[in-house]
Amino acid sequence: MTMPGRFITLEGVDGAGKSTHLGFVAERLRARGHEVVVTREPGGTPLGETLRELLLHRDMDAGTELLLMFAARQQHLAELIQPALARGAWVVSDRFTDASYAYQCGGRGIDAARVAALENWVQQGFAPDLTLLFDVPAEVAESRRSAARAADRFEREADSFFNRVRQAYLVRAAAEPERIRVLDARQSIAALQDEIARLLDALA
Ligand code: TMP
Repeated sequence: MTMPGRFITLEGVDGAGKSTHLGFVAERLRARGHEVVVTREPGGTPLGETLRELLLHRDMDAGTELLLMFAARQQHLAELIQPALARGAWVVSDRFTDASYAYQCGGRGIDAARVAALENWVQQGFAPDLTLLFDVPAEVAESRRSAARAADRFEREADSFFNRVRQAYLVRAAAEPERIRVLDARQSIAALQDEIARLLDALA
């Protein structure tokens, strides 16, 4: 599917700081005159937000978790992302399918072929135009997380889980270096924003 708008995703382990930069990305694109839709996964639609509550707070089998992530994604694409892109808006999502490979495959140990099958079924070749991967060691992410509100099911996982999630993200970035740009999220906010601005400005 070719869409007039562009689709940008932000990824990283919990605590990497990606959400801090969402507003910056949106403002930079708006300043270029684009309509910008900011959204998140799991979530982004009323049904998706209901699924998010379950995913973040109810214990479940890892396969169920994967299927619910893609159920939320299907709704997100149909109801919000694809209509926005079709009218020429730029969509910025806090997480998308790379998170399923990182968390459900890397973190939980599900076979990547299962995720790929769901990705093909739901997305039919559709993928982000640009993905910003905020990369930090698991210990740094943990110290940033502990300052935050009460932890959800994912945030309660051990450092070893987040190490596997991080490695899975880096493996994906190495396989798709043009789309997935790795940012060293230990840098200052100002330094990261300079780098993000350059990447966005390079995207026509
Ligand atoms: P957030 O805290 O960045 O909003 O994301 C919610 C959690 O959901 C986060 O811990 C990562 C997790 N997640 C997955 O495990 N798989 C996915 O496909 C997505 C989109 C998120």
